[in-house]
Order: sequence, then C-alpha cells, then structure tokens
Amino acid sequence: MPLTRLSRRDALKITATPFALAAATGLSTKKAIARLATSTIRVRRNINDPIFGADVAVAYRKAVGIMKGKADTDTKSFAAQHSIHTNFCPHGNWYFLPWHRAYLVAFEAICADVLEDPTFALPYWDWTEDRILPPAVGQPTFEGQPNYLFNGTRFMKDTTTLWQSLARFNVDAERIFGRANIKTIIDSRSFQGFGSLKPTGQDDTSKKWQRRSGRKSALEREPHDFCHGGVDGDMGDVNTSPRDPVFYLHHCNLDRLWARWNASGKQNDSDPLWHGFTFEQNFWDTSGNPIDVKVSSLFDTLSLGYRYDNVPAPVVAMVEAASAAPQDRFKTIASAVANAEAKLNTATALPVSVSSGTPEAAALGVTQTVLPKSTRNRVFAFINEVSVPSRRNIGVRVFINHPHVTPDTPSDDPHYAGAFTFFAGDQSGEAGMHGEHAQSFALDITDTLDAIRRAGTKVDNEIVVQLMPIGFEVSPEEGRFTVGSVDIAELSS
Ligand code: C2O
Repeated sequence: MPLTRLSRRDALKITATPFALAAATGLSTKKAIARLATSTIRVRRNINDPIFGADVAVAYRKAVGIMKGKADTDTKSFAAQHSIHTNFCPHGNWYFLPWHRAYLVAFEAICADVLEDPTFALPYWDWTEDRILPPAVGQPTFEGQPNYLFNGTRFMKDTTTLWQSLARFNVDAERIFGRANIKTIIDSRSFQGFGSLKPTGQDDTSKKWQRRSGRKSALEREPHDFCHGGVDGDMGDVNTSPRDPVFYLHHCNLDRLWARWNASGKQNDSDPLWHGFTFEQNFWDTSGNPIDVKVSSLFDTLSLGYRYDNVPAPVVAMVEAASAAPQDRFKTIASAVANAEAKLNTATALPVSVSSGTPEAAALGVTQTVLPKSTRNRVFAFINEVSVPSRRNIGVRVFINHPHVTPDTPSDDPHYAGAFTFFAGDQSGEAGMHGEHAQSFALDITDTLDAIRRAGTKVDNEIVVQLMPIGFEVSPEEGRFTVGSVDIAELSS
C-alpha cells in the first residue's frame, strides 16, 4: 500500500485543524486528555517505514530503556505503565478501542517526556504487510547492546511469521491478518460490529461496566487476539502483555484501523452509555497526576495531538454528528441453550433451530429466510459464555452447517465463518455462570450463509454453529471448555 506523504504545507494545515474543529463543534480542547497533547501534531509511522522507521525505532528503544530504568513506584516507569493495563483494561466489550487509545496517548506522552522530545510519536506494526516481528523489536541486540525492545519469552523468534505461528492451531493467518479480512472488518458499518459489543445488561455508566463482558467482534477477536497469541510468551497473556514492548506497536496498529474506519466515513456509536462513559483515574499525566478520560474525548486523533502517516483526516467522528445516526440494533432471531463441552480436535455442534414461518419460506430453507432483506443489515452468530480452558494456547475455527468438520477442514471452505482464541475474558471479577473469565464472541455470518446458499446447499430448520479447537502443547484435559448458549441475531445499521 503506498504511503501518503504530506508536504510541509499540508502538515501545517492539519496542525490548525483540531482547534477549528473544536470551535465548530463547541468541544473544549481543555479536557484532561487533551492536556497531554502538544501544539504540533505527532505523526505515528510504520516502524518499517524505509525513511522514518529507523529513527523512530531508536527513539522508542531509548524511551523504553529510560522507563525500564526507573523504580516501579515511579509513574513513568515501564512497570507502572504495565500496571495500568493489568488494573483497568477492558476486553470483549465496546470500551476496548477507546480505552486502549487513551492508554497509548498517555504512554506516548510519557515517552515524549523522558525523551524531552514533544514530537515523539509511537510507531506501529502493520502485520497485514509485515508478517514477521519488526526487526527493531525482534532482534535480541542492537548495535552490540541489549535491545530494550526485545522480549525473550516470545514464541515468535525474529524470523518466525505470524502465518507460521498460527499454523500451530491450524488457523490460516491470511484469514485473520490478510488484506481481504481487514477490508471486511473496515467495511462493517456498525461500531459494535467493528469494535466489540456493549456489556450484556449494561444500563448505566457506572464504572463496574468497564470490564464486564460484551461480545468480541472481528477486529478484537481476530487480528487483536491472534496477534497476542501468535507472538505469545508475555504477549499471550492479558496480564503480562504490556511487558513486551511490541504490545504498544500492536495496539497502535489497531488504533490506526479505528482511525481508518472513521476516515472511511463510519460513525462511532451514538449510545450515551458508550460515549458518555468515563475511565476514572486510570491513567497518569506526565506529572504523575491521575486523569479522567471520557470516551467522547477520544474520537478525533488530531485533538489528541496525533495522526497516522497513511490515514486521511477523519470525516468528523464527533459525538454530535454520531447522535444523529441511527442506533445500532441487534435483534435476536433465534437462540439455543448449548451447555456444550468442547474438546480439542473434535467438532462441537451447536444447533439453533430457526422457524422458517410459512411453508413457502420453509421450502426456501433457512439460509434464505435468515439472510437479511436489506443489504445494510447483517446476520451474526453469538457464541456466548465460553469458559476459558486451563491452557489458553488454542485456536478455535468456526464453521456453519458443514456436513463433516474435521481438524483438517481448510479455512477456505465456504462453510468457514471465522476464528477465536482465548486472550482475555470478563475481567470484572464477578463470577458468571461459566466461571469468571467466560467470554462471548460475535461472528458476522452473512457472507458464509450467502456462500452456502449460492453453493446450492439447502439448509432446513437449523443453523448449526460448529467449533474446531486445536491446541499447541495442550493436553486433552487442559483443552476442555464449555459454551453456554448461541444466538442468531440481525444487525441493522
Ligand atoms: Cu488490553 Cu491487546 O490488550
């Protein structure tokens, strides 16, 4: 993909934009998070960029080295920054993207502070284009010195590709990180379909909801979770992942994809339970003061003081504009209690019967009746309350109404619908029905149902969601997990 380079003039124009936007929309630039922003726009670049990559890697390495040298009690230490993630990070719900954006902004401000360089911007790792770890973080030494960006616990060595790493689970990384999947993800119209769903049952903005489980949509469930599991070692566990400096490069890329999604004209969620939520004192500013960050203050990267090298300025993702957009609506079409136990290398079938209504509809089959009438709508399968097995080194591929799924069924089979792994579940500490770390997944199955229909396969009465878990160095006992229920839902957006 060609990088868009801006002339100095364009850069100046952009520098002026956030204030113009803020004035136009009446938003205050004095919000707490904005205090971290400086007056020049920091440009986050690809760490492998042939022109800028080497310098930004040197700067990031230096910042991490300084932070690693500080006492753990110092809010600017690498360890203290890690503790923020352990204590507050939401996963598996709609706070995933905004929280990690705020985390990066606060971390980046501290890097800039210790470097005494206000222009410092975090680099990103674009795993769609670059399948191995960026050499700047992948190699144990740099110019004969220990490399502060290296982490010795990783499964991925400097020449291992994500493709090779995910092959351990029979997961095809092309279906996770490849251009076609990223395009499908960017094409989702709904914020929740893109960036994970509202916590189940959420009815106010009290802080207990921050880490309650919603459902993981494609961006989090696939490239996010599988990059953690693919790099593995510290990166593979939610509680240790920020110990690996590649964590911040990975999240920068996810944040870039959110910016790209907005730049392509998609609106953030208009629900005040989302944009009106505040992350209370989760982060520190550069003087060590805790700061509050409201979700709606995170929509415009320019007002936060940064942009990405290859993302055009957003088509305004302000909450005011979003309020006018229709609310996302997930309407349940059919549900089934599963209470199923899944085992490694074995297909677990989770059938959901769908009444096809009239005899005429029944004659057309389930795929025809379930596929949305409007092309704006999508059909989802929700796989709910999936318990976390005692070892998480497992990839689970999901198929729909396949006549006979085996561990070797290829991922380019028309019945393939996506994959999930076990990075982090509900972290609220509240024990759910299937253990406190249970997590739920949302898979857009519209294209799969359409492929089945086009193949001429008639599906009567039920949609069968099939799981195929494959572990790496996981015993059959360690690989068991349970699934609470399955829903088929239609999303209108
Ligand atoms: Cu909060 Cu990728 O993790």
